[in-house]
Amino acid sequence: MTAPKTAPSGGILITFEGIDGCGKSTQSRLAAEFFVSRGCVVHSSREPGGSSIGPAVRSLLLDSSRPPCPLAEALLFSADRAQHVHERIRPALARGEVVILDRHTDSTLAYQGYGSGQDLAVLRQLNMIATGGLVPQATFLLDLDPSVAAERMEKRQPDRFEREAGEFHQRVRDGFLHLAAMEPERIRVIDARGDQKAVARLIQKQLEVLLEKLHA
Ligand code: TYD
Repeated sequence: MTAPKTAPSGGILITFEGIDGCGKSTQSRLAAEFFVSRGCVVHSSREPGGSSIGPAVRSLLLDSSRPPCPLAEALLFSADRAQHVHERIRPALARGEVVILDRHTDSTLAYQGYGSGQDLAVLRQLNMIATGGLVPQATFLLDLDPSVAAERMEKRQPDRFEREAGEFHQRVRDGFLHLAAMEPERIRVIDARGDQKAVARLIQKQLEVLLEKLHA
């Protein structure tokens, strides 16, 4: 099934994706700072958790003591996303803002699909229902070897997904790369091995181009 592509009205939607520990939270924050420094109004948030019901859904999803079944897990991520799109993302785009998300629809395909083996066609449908067909103009995929990402996360308290075995994270990484190969114009693969500044420079070059388009 091909998703109808609804262009966001006015603003621009940019997402950051990648395996846990790839540095996307830092890079999405730096991207927000970049746009603010250029005079844009920015809405930045994350999934799961970016809406008013998000923190509750996020704790249901990430609590290792009571993991939901696979379908419930996919539906919970979708419920969180639907609320986020309805309550925060579409209104911000309608106001002409730059919306920057730390994870969005590609995470569901990579984690629940490629990582956990749920049906990709079903997950694509769920994504479409949750977003109403909204598709980001640009997605930055921060690509990193899972063993390097694991080293970077050593000091962190791992959530339910971060506790998964190395092979799971390898499948998720390969899944993200597969998605990028299918949609090379939208999903830009960024080599995340460098230090924060080097990775930020790679991303900023592309943000300058997006900004020009926004003002065109
Ligand atoms: P994230 O907020 O990136 O983790 P962190 O606690 O490091 O900030 O995401 C939490 C976890 O949720 C992460 O391991 C990826 C997973 N996830 C999915 O499995 N599917 C999804 O659709 C999304 C958005 C996240």
